[in-house]
Amino acid sequence: MTDLLLRAVLLGNLGVCVTAQVMLALPTQVRFDSVDYKNVVHWTPPANSSSLQFYVQWKIYGEPQWLNVSGCQGIQRPHCDLSVVTSDPREWYYARVHASSLPSSKSAWALSPRFSPRWDTKISSPILKLNRTEQGIVVRVKPPKLMVRKMHRSLHYEIYLIDSSGQEEVHKMDCCSKKLILKKLKHKENYCLQAQTMIPLQAKSSARSPVKCVTTL
Ligand SMILES: *[C@@H]1O[C@H](CO)[C@@H](O)[C@H](O)[C@H]1NC(C)=O
Ligand SMILES: *[C@@H]1O[C@H](CO)[C@@H](O)[C@H](O)[C@H]1NC(C)=O
Ligand SMILES: *[C@@H]1O[C@H](CO)[C@@H](O)[C@H](O)[C@H]1NC(C)=O
Repeated sequence: MTDLLLRAVLLGNLGVCVTAQVMLALPTQVRFDSVDYKNVVHWTPPANSSSLQFYVQWKIYGEPQWLNVSGCQGIQRPHCDLSVVTSDPREWYYARVHASSLPSSKSAWALSPRFSPRWDTKISSPILKLNRTEQGIVVRVKPPKLMVRKMHRSLHYEIYLIDSSGQEEVHKMDCCSKKLILKKLKHKENYCLQAQTMIPLQAKSSARSPVKCVTTL
């Protein structure tokens, strides 16, 4: 007790040192951002935190033990890629982060919401490749990432064909690495196209790709 009092008095007298001994503020908004099963945890560092270091741990929902994420101990960047340790899409995961400032000041742990790779990952929008030929417009789509194809055997694309009056037609295209030829189009007409990846079994889809336009021969 006396010891504590003494220390308080000492610290009180050493104005500047007091701030260094106080518990650091927490990082905030710890959350998983996941695209195509690349699972990255991001957080917002506490204010005035130029020289902070962050320590990241993870665990499976329901397991008692937190594990260090190797490669994300004492880091200064406010994000950490957990794809390797959170690679089972059927599991649920948590991550937590604490901040530390040398020599000895630490924040408490800040916890992420529960994360499911399968349900929470976003599918990136596909990349369209177009070529015009005498037959029509040849549509190819860059195949999705391997992990997306492994996870979703039933995916396909919707191809949106928009003519110069703004009329839109939807064509279904199988995945992957096949081409679709859009025939019976008007000559010398400007068409714009978009693609979207669809995963009907999980009611999941990507955003539409950026628009690409061609003028037919
Ligand atoms: C952060 O630093 C600024 C200027 O250095 C100061 O005015 C502000 O009070 C500090 N905020 C906190 C939370 O320490
Ligand atoms: C995590 O790393 C810290 C040091 O940063 C160490 O003290 C602790 O034992 C480690 N925990 C596990 C579960 O390996
Ligand atoms: C487009 O198609 C033509 C005719 O089939 C071919 O010669 C050309 O290489 C193709 N271009 C691209 C970018 O695929």
